[in-house]
Amino acid sequence: MSRVLHRGRLLHFVDDPEKGLEDSYQYFSDGGLLIDNGHVVTVDHAEQLLKSLPAATPVQVHENALLVPGFIDTHIHYPQMDIIGAHGEQLLEWLDKYVFPTEAKFADFEYAQTVARRFLAELLRNGTTTALVFGTVHPQSVDAFFTEAEARNLRMIAGKVMMDRNAPDNLRDTAETSYSESKALIERWHERGRLRYAVTPRFAPTSTPEQLKAAGRLLHEYPGVHLHTHMSENLNEVAWVEELFPHLDHYLHSYDEAGLLGRRSVFAHCVHLNEAEWQRMAETQSNIAFCPTSNLFLGSGLFPLAKAQSCGIHVGLGTDIGAGTSFSILETMDEAYKIQQLQGHSLSPFKSFFLATLGGARTLDLESHIGNFLPGKEADFLVLDLAATPLLEERMKHCDDLFETLFVLSTLGDDRCVRESWIMGQCQHRRDQPESCDAAVASATPQTDYSETGPTGA
Ligand code: GUN
Ligand code: ZN
Repeated sequence: MSRVLHRGRLLHFVDDPEKGLEDSYQYFSDGGLLIDNGHVVTVDHAEQLLKSLPAATPVQVHENALLVPGFIDTHIHYPQMDIIGAHGEQLLEWLDKYVFPTEAKFADFEYAQTVARRFLAELLRNGTTTALVFGTVHPQSVDAFFTEAEARNLRMIAGKVMMDRNAPDNLRDTAETSYSESKALIERWHERGRLRYAVTPRFAPTSTPEQLKAAGRLLHEYPGVHLHTHMSENLNEVAWVEELFPHLDHYLHSYDEAGLLGRRSVFAHCVHLNEAEWQRMAETQSNIAFCPTSNLFLGSGLFPLAKAQSCGIHVGLGTDIGAGTSFSILETMDEAYKIQQLQGHSLSPFKSFFLATLGGARTLDLESHIGNFLPGKEADFLVLDLAATPLLEERMKHCDDLFETLFVLSTLGDDRCVRESWIMGQCQHRRDQPESCDAAVASATPQTDYSETGPTGA
């Protein structure tokens, strides 16, 4: 019998709290999450569920913890995990000085695989169970990532960077090779198990209009794939796009004319959009990854979440490692709150937890699979420890309601709060016994032999 009941304090969202708080979430102070064969059967009060279940149903009790759906990171670069905290530069100089040299190392499949393993372990340690992930220009970086994600049965979206100008020689492809390499990766990985492919032009300054059109052709030929890029993060970047595309009205137009907007498109940052861009994002149901720690670290600017909300645009949280400074979605919520404070808005913790779960799932067009505990969803969930540190334990004693509990968790919480991360009903990270979850991933092997290939796998 594969049915298991997880018992503990439990919270999930069924809609955006902005539309009406009362109907947006379900909270059970003594809840039960019934899982069968990796999927949610139902959630309810534990007592209620126990009455209806056979006495032999296994029950896992999670003391002094909060069970929530797995966190969703809507924008992150796995090849940049070793340059987190690189000092002193803003976006364009930071790319030249730190990012391009480190990304060049991913021409080597084995190196990429080693980093992918460390990266996925770090995601799970932080309670991130799904992410939208940048590779590098090398197709083997994506093969390495998906090989490791598949071995862990993770729901992940990733893609090879397309970049045919304004980058070092060893990191450039062409419009044609980026098309054919991305196509081969889509054929190999898209919709394989829980994996999906994202067509990934880095950003308009590093793609010719021909390459952006090639990206659009891929989206047209494979309607289920995603689009993942950066947009309007930094004012010098925006000015550069104006120079590179003098015939266009605004930055978003460079993507729009190539057919890159839509409900499976995610634009990271969008800090400096003009009114026409906001309207076009909304019209095309395009999505935004809000990356607070990155925007602060690179001095990029303050993302106007209330504006996105008023336009009805789906927003998710992104760590944007390595410009972001933490893998933790709890720490990301903390910085999101401060960014909104600087603009005169106080971000509700209900909204933050929504953004980290169901909001992220909507942003990635994955709501039918993940994001909450509705029946049939994939059972990716976290056991958050509300007494992970002495300070948190003490502070929680002074919380009077769920609002305050969530806010304190987002303000003081980090990876130490993630006691367990469960993937499709299997525990893959146990904070206090990390080795107990290692067996499942021991046998990942590459699908492609890269031993004889050149730097971009050609
Ligand atoms: N814009 C283009 N490339 C990048 C990148 O790697 N990180 C961030 N934060 N912004 C970008
Ligand atoms: Zn980024």
